[in-house]
Order: sequence, then structure tokens, then C-alpha cells
Amino acid sequence: MNTEMTLGVVGAGKLGEAIVGGLLKREFLSADQIVASVKHEGSLDRVATRLGVRATLDNIEAVRGRDVVLLAVKPQNMHAVLEEIGDVLTSDQLVISVAASVTTGYVEDRLSLPIPVVRAMPNTPCILGVGMTALCAGQHATSVHLATAEAMFACVGETARVDEGLMDGVTALSASGPAYLYVVIESLAEAGVKLGIPREVSTKLAAQTMLGAATMVLVSKEHPALLKDTVTTPAGCTIDGLLELEEGKLRVTLIKAVVKAAERARQLVEKTSG
Ligand SMILES: NC(=O)c1ccc[n+]([C@@H]2O[C@H](COP(=O)([O-])OP(=O)(O)OC[C@H]3O[C@@H](n4cnc5c(N)ncnc54)[C@H](OP(=O)(O)O)[C@@H]3O)[C@@H](O)[C@H]2O)c1
Repeated sequence: MNTEMTLGVVGAGKLGEAIVGGLLKREFLSADQIVASVKHEGSLDRVATRLGVRATLDNIEAVRGRDVVLLAVKPQNMHAVLEEIGDVLTSDQLVISVAASVTTGYVEDRLSLPIPVVRAMPNTPCILGVGMTALCAGQHATSVHLATAEAMFACVGETARVDEGLMDGVTALSASGPAYLYVVIESLAEAGVKLGIPREVSTKLAAQTMLGAATMVLVSKEHPALLKDTVTTPAGCTIDGLLELEEGKLRVTLIKAVVKAAERARQLVEKTSG
């Protein structure tokens, strides 16, 4: 437990709540070290009840003097929030932003002082502690600041450091990625149903198979193509399935999907920064 560290969260919505929930569950911080702000009075009870942390409608109260300030409002609300808190933050604080398509430069430009900013791009599985978060540093953030942010996001899954220029790719791959993989799970489950397997069992078979395959890649550290080869018996049934995937252009379709989503992420960055 970081007994000294205090955290102010601006925007305790789905993601803010998931992150605070992970910090508490992993005992990285205790509830009395955290203050979280929301927009609507009706949300105060939800935050206080579900997380047990102090909830407020006052963003300045949430951030003033906190060691770390986590900005977890929607990208379109970042401008207003930064206008509000920009003069209150000081250079000994660390600002972490999870707002998609909002660059560290955008945040830095709206702060009165040179303040360390880390940008993080998590994904929804963070809710269950199995997320993937990519992090990059702004111009005033050191490796110590990055390490602090990494330790926090490690409470909700895995982390990776990237250059900020790769954040659009990250957004398209690991932040949008769960949506693509849900489609794959859904399709495999449909196949099971077509073959007479009850839907519930079929969905479990598909989802656990995806989890197992992902775990094999992560734990064995083998190239996925090698792992695929170990499942593919000569003249067996897997090779017939793989040939269908090739004919259906699964590979190129997935590559194009991620590239297209990255292009859209780039457009959103330009729109937000403009
Ligand atoms: N969800 C994800 O998996 C995910 C993944 C990567 C990045 N992100 C980023 O995370 C951010 C939050 O996403 P989300 O899905 O958690 O959104 P959300 O559930 O809508 O949460 C947004 C929160 O911000 C609060 N809020 C709005 N305006 C505010 C203001 N002016 N001052 C203080 N609080 C304010 C809202 O308060 P009320 O509750 O009172 O309305 C709400 O609690 C976004 O920027 C998004 O791009 C999300």
C-alpha cells in the first residue's frame, strides 16, 4: 500500500470506477486516500456506495494538493475540466489522462505550469482486472512518473509503454479490439449452434478457447503461427477450417479493420487538438 499517495479522480464513470476499484482491490491505495468527482448530484451516491471513496461535485476540491490526478471524463469534456482545474494544479503533481484522442500536448497547453502528464489508453476488460493499458509520457513526465502510472494500471491488468505517436494504433488495436474479438466469439458460438451445440455451451466453448489461446501466446511467448501449427495435424480437420479462413480473408480483414480504426483515431485526435 502507498500510504503516502493521494489520488484525485475527475470523472468517476465506467472507467474511473474500474480503475479506482482495481486500486482498492489490490490495496494499492485505501479509500481514504482517494477523492472522486462526478458531474451530476445523482452520481454521488453511486460513487460513495460502490467505491467507498469521498465523492464530490467540486473538481477543484478533487484535485487540489493530490499527488496524482486522474482525468477520466469524456474527451469532449476535457476542455471544460482543464479550464476549471488548470490554474490549481502544481508541478509536483502527476496528471494522468485516459481520454481517448486527447494528446499530452493538449493537456499541457491548458495547464498554467509545466506539469508532468501521462496519457493512458486502457480497455474495457480493466473492469475485471484483465485489461490492457498502453502509456506514454508528456514532455515534463519522467520515467518515475511513468512508473507510478504503470503501477496504478497494473492493478487493472497488463501495461505497455509506447511512444505517443503509436497511440492511434493502440486505440485501434487494444482499446477497440475487444469489440472485434466479441464478433469472433459470437461467430464461433453461432457455428456451434449450427452444429447442434446448445448456445450457452457453445458460447462458453468459444470464449474459453479464445482465453486459452491468448494465454498460450502470452505464457509460451511462442509466435502465434508456431502455436497454430501445433494444432494443425496433417490431413486433419483443423487445416480444412484454416483454409476456409484464408478463403474468407480473415487475416486481411482483421488487419484492415485495425488500420481503418487507427485512421479514424487519428482524425479524432486532429479534431480534439484543433
Ligand atoms: N470505457 C472504456 O473502456 C474506456 C477505454 C479507454 C479510454 N476511455 C476514456 O475514459 C474516459 C471516460 O470514459 P467512460 O466510459 O468512463 O465514460 P463515462 O462512464 O461517461 O464517465 C464519465 C464520467 O465523467 C463525469 N463527468 C462528466 N463531466 C464532468 C465534469 N465536468 N466534471 C467532473 N466529472 C464529469 C461523469 O459524471 P456523471 O456520472 O455524474 O455523469 C461520469 O462519471 C473517456 O475519455 C474515454 O475516452 C474509456
